[in-house]
Amino acid sequence: MSARQITGRLVIATHNPGKLWELQQLLAPHGVDAVSAGDLGLSEPEETETSFSGNALLKARAAATAANLPAFADDSGLCVDALGDEPGVYSARWAGEGRDFSAAIRRVERELAERGATPPFRAHFTCALAVVWPDGHVEQFEGRVDGVLVFPPRGEKGFGYDPIFLPDGLERTFGEMMSAEKHALPSDGSQALSHRARAFQALARACLA
Ligand code: IMP
Repeated sequence: MSARQITGRLVIATHNPGKLWELQQLLAPHGVDAVSAGDLGLSEPEETETSFSGNALLKARAAATAANLPAFADDSGLCVDALGDEPGVYSARWAGEGRDFSAAIRRVERELAERGATPPFRAHFTCALAVVWPDGHVEQFEGRVDGVLVFPPRGEKGFGYDPIFLPDGLERTFGEMMSAEKHALPSDGSQALSHRARAFQALARACLA
């Protein structure tokens, strides 16, 4: 069965202006008018699920119900093989209240050492997307990028765990790349680089005209 198409107004279940802006750029060429949950005065639900897709669905469902409009949400994070896929859905929480990602990166390094892990430290970023309509219809997508972790961290261009993530087949960490390069959606249809761009490519193929 083909996926339901996204048309007209779409609520983006985020209070993060950077994320909203990025999504508006991606959606505008498809005739979709993206408004943020923050601008509509909707509150942010707590992310209580244990999977990326569960959290994306929870956020999209809450926004679709509150706004009575189709709603989009994402959830993403870093999964490290030798840490049993942690920090995973807790990626943001490892940075603490102060959002200190150098502390989060030190914690990853420390926990790898405590578990006696040795390089290569295999890891991947995952991004889950969910679109929920007010009648309860759901479309979900996932994107993933595999690589290894490198210490010490390299590069200051990205955010979060970017400086320790070296994607397979490349010689620069995400922290050494411009955001445009990492998140670009190639116009020739070839695979994007980042987990978020890959998930969005899957959504665009299925749900956007
Ligand atoms: P959220 O999906 O915006 O809640 O992001 C969860 C957390 O995962 C972020 O705070 C980052 O720590 C981490 N993360 C997700 N995507 C990336 C990425 O592309 N680079 C670096 N860190 C990321």
